[in-house]
Amino acid sequence: MNFVITTGYHPTAATEQAAREFAQQLNVEFVARNRNSLAAIQKNFHVDVILLFSKQGPLIYTDDGNYFFHLSMADLRIKNLKNGKHDHMINAMQLQPGMSVLDCTLGLATDAIVASFATGPSGKVTGLENSLLLAFIAKAGLSGFIGESPDITAALRQIEVIQADSEKYLCHVPDESYDIVYFDPMFRQPIQSSSNLKPIRLLADKRPVSLALLAEAKRVARKRIVLKEMQGSPEFERLGFTQFVGGKYSSVQYGIMEVQH
Ligand SMILES: C[S@@+](CC[C@H](N)C(=O)[O-])C[C@H]1O[C@@H](n2cnc3c(N)ncnc32)[C@H](O)[C@@H]1O
Repeated sequence: MNFVITTGYHPTAATEQAAREFAQQLNVEFVARNRNSLAAIQKNFHVDVILLFSKQGPLIYTDDGNYFFHLSMADLRIKNLKNGKHDHMINAMQLQPGMSVLDCTLGLATDAIVASFATGPSGKVTGLENSLLLAFIAKAGLSGFIGESPDITAALRQIEVIQADSEKYLCHVPDESYDIVYFDPMFRQPIQSSSNLKPIRLLADKRPVSLALLAEAKRVARKRIVLKEMQGSPEFERLGFTQFVGGKYSSVQYGIMEVQH
């Protein structure tokens, strides 16, 4: 993925310094913004993607829209949990305070935030994201975004983000390290209509979960593996999921695989 790094029109010294340092760290070109539009930078530097360091936090600019950290549905889902309503993902994981979750497909971290809220301060959530830019946005948001209430902010801060390919990373994780191993791979057909999520398709790792990765997940999980897919997806059968949780009318379903050690 070819991209350059720039700032907003009037960056603070700290923002510009952070942008320059990140560009240097990645060996990516830093473009001084001056009065140039982002479209002009795209054209002049022959890139589809720009990582913009703005005062509000990092943002990914693409022709398909902008991608930046926000709570997405995590906000509403956490409100529902607080009001005693259930959440299909939390039910599928049978998540309790103090448990640990390895999210192998972190993305925008919406599911990880809900999991982190449910596991609470004594729990642990680790998120793996293969895309460098998506991992960067998640990491920046989870460490900097301030939620509506302290427990939401605490849920964000508690998530550890690791930029890695799950398939490679899991090989080095000791047996039975996490209660739950979770997968939410890119759907074969895009169902997200939110313009903030469109650029994810350009940047994301779109490979399906391989049988080798699933075998590693079985070794690493203490209790269960949960896979989110479209309702009735052939992926469930291919990977051997036979137990399901999900709303009758929901477009997604959670496949559950209990792990026997
Ligand atoms: C559908 S999104 C996940 C959305 C996420 N559950 C959320 O709530 O925001 C899938 C993400 O997993 C990442 N991904 C796919 N395969 C991966 C792998 N093998 N290792 C790490 N990340 C992966 C993609 O880059 C993408 O960002």
